[in-house]
Amino acid sequence: MKKTLFIILITLFSMRLNAQIKIIPQPVEIEIKKGFFVFDNKLIVYNTANDSSVNSIAVYLKETLINKGKVADIQIVNGAAKIKKGLFLFINKNLRNLGDEGYELNITQSRIDITASHIRGLFYGVQSLRQLLPAEFESKTGMTKPGFKIPCVEITDNPKFKWRGMLLDCGRHFMDKEFVKRYIDLLAYYKMNTLHWHLTEDQGWRIEIKKYPKLTEIGSWRTEADGSRYGGFYSQDEIKEVVEYAKERFVNVVPEIELPGHSVAAIASYPNLSCTGKQIDVETQWGVFKDIYCAGNDTTINFLKDVLTEVMSLFPSKYIHIGGDEAPKYRWENCTKCQSRIKNNVLKDEHELQSWFIGQFDEFLSQNGRKLIGWDEILEGGLSKGATVQSWRGMEGAIAAARSGHDAIVSPTSHAYFDYDISNINLEKVYSFNPIPDELNENERKHILGGECNLWSERAPQEKVDGRMFPRILAMSEVLWTYPEKRNFNEFRKRVQLQYPVLKALGVTYGFEREPLKFTANTDISKKLILVNLEKGQEGTDIFYTTSGIKPDRKALKYSKAIVAKDSLKLKVAVLANDNDNGFYYERSFKMSKSTALIPKLKFPYSQNYKANGDNALTDGVLGTENFRDGNWQGYEGVDMIAVIDLGKETEISTISTGFLQSTPSWIFFPPQLEYFISKDGVEFRSIGVLTAPVSPKDVDNLVKYYTINLPIKAKTQFVKVVAKNMGSCPEWHPGAGGKAWIFADEIIIE
Ligand code: ACM
Ligand code: ZN
Repeated sequence: MKKTLFIILITLFSMRLNAQIKIIPQPVEIEIKKGFFVFDNKLIVYNTANDSSVNSIAVYLKETLINKGKVADIQIVNGAAKIKKGLFLFINKNLRNLGDEGYELNITQSRIDITASHIRGLFYGVQSLRQLLPAEFESKTGMTKPGFKIPCVEITDNPKFKWRGMLLDCGRHFMDKEFVKRYIDLLAYYKMNTLHWHLTEDQGWRIEIKKYPKLTEIGSWRTEADGSRYGGFYSQDEIKEVVEYAKERFVNVVPEIELPGHSVAAIASYPNLSCTGKQIDVETQWGVFKDIYCAGNDTTINFLKDVLTEVMSLFPSKYIHIGGDEAPKYRWENCTKCQSRIKNNVLKDEHELQSWFIGQFDEFLSQNGRKLIGWDEILEGGLSKGATVQSWRGMEGAIAAARSGHDAIVSPTSHAYFDYDISNINLEKVYSFNPIPDELNENERKHILGGECNLWSERAPQEKVDGRMFPRILAMSEVLWTYPEKRNFNEFRKRVQLQYPVLKALGVTYGFEREPLKFTANTDISKKLILVNLEKGQEGTDIFYTTSGIKPDRKALKYSKAIVAKDSLKLKVAVLANDNDNGFYYERSFKMSKSTALIPKLKFPYSQNYKANGDNALTDGVLGTENFRDGNWQGYEGVDMIAVIDLGKETEISTISTGFLQSTPSWIFFPPQLEYFISKDGVEFRSIGVLTAPVSPKDVDNLVKYYTINLPIKAKTQFVKVVAKNMGSCPEWHPGAGGKAWIFADEIIIE
């Protein structure tokens, strides 16, 4: 072989070698060396400390390597650090500076040395070793042939944060025990150490409590709108099994038992726990509900202490999460028992009552050697003594907690809510997260224990969880483990690409890294058409579409150039990944009319939070769907929607139609009344019809309806005015009673 060719080959080879290091989270120090360690048929694992706890790690290694690595003969030998070949597990107290979770992994052509001051560190050393193995290793069957190699490396590693968590909401949607265990495995693989298990919700109580059997007999089941029963729960034995499984993988399971809010399922089981004592049903809607535990009733407090007693017997976690978020005070304001409690304890208001109520459980948990965590609402009315705060409404909760000497965990909606669409929180956004607020000084920063990514399951039953968690959780794992100065998004993204074959092997149906589709619609008034452009947000995907109403698949039309919408068009789009069955589905309807592209004059401004396409939103030709967050709906909070459209000259018209959305759990109602007016001069308007809401505001389905008027004789007009009345505030029966009601409008169509 010619020398230059040889050098080129060596260079290519080492480039490939570098590219193959795919470890996530990125180790703090990693040096790639020449050569490989080859796993052949025989391997000796040395427990050099001759320590039974180390043996558990050795056995774990042995089992995986035999099962998945097809390494036929593995012996575990105690002692013998000086032997030349093998895999060595060392406990070395001199590595205490790396903490319990830190480790060194040193791979040469003859030995693999994993060294740590604690078996936790050894476990993470093993995870890094696992990530150096070929992706195939992680599949159900493992390697097809024995004999594979891993590159020689030297790694020194430890985590930035000690709390690296994920919240799994099994309240809204029940997830089976095996699924939860699978997530524990996935967390461990990416060196996350906390499963925050959300076990009680308005829509379902998921944990067996022996003293209160109705919690699971009644509270675990809901009757859906179609009459079907939905639910499930974990028996105490199943919980113990999950907790033990997690312990073996160094994952702490923090149970969340929500109080005083999000407690409808408990109240449906035992109505005497609420202020009214009235029988209610386990919720079927998503949202925030006004029936909460009565804080004035000692029975309720004793009930919750009994529940927490059984919870503590199942979960060894030092931390117990009690929720504390989103508890409307409406019932407490109208409850004689709650009002007496306020008076007798000289409390200022219902916020102080919440603080007092939570204080009962803070004290109770402390007496039992545990610590209370709550969402940042527990700051309102005064933070109780031993509480740790989980900041979700931004970082302010964490800042306030740290400044007052309390610990905090951060999981703000801006970066850590993985139930949010990828268009809101993409991979890069998660990666940019800084868990330490700039505002804090050196001392206060120590109170930030770490963070979590949250999977609320309203729109994510079990089968959708992978697509929301992955790949975003890879970014969160790196944010929480790797020191900020060692992080680089472009380099991280390359490792993410190398993780996809691993995720595939693990059976993870991962989602997208960013919004899979960029969509633009340009109206050409002179040609009377809309040009719809679709652009891929991510490589490795294809766009397919239909205009027939059928759901597109790989056999549908493949998008290559702008789609033309003349008059009206119903477009269904699928973005399908080439290497994965996960798809992103999207649909939009388009409508050209005499009002298209004419900017309406508004009496009251639209909300900046729901502005859709801004001034063009109501006449851009793109129609809103049943999803109020689809980017087409323009929101009006507490005010009427009054719009005037100038057609430019006197024009014959036959119909006027305006679309609205109702989504009552989100406080969005159809206008109770709408009136259309026409005018020749834009000054004097003549009423041409009054319409009322097509369904009751109590109708809970998400609905889109058009308020349409057909003119019996074609009218001539230059100006059209739409006056859509807002309910003003949410009615008394509604969970948001008294709060500002919304109108969501799109679009105004004049023909
Ligand atoms: C929360 O998202 N309500 C904590
Ligand atoms: Zn009460």
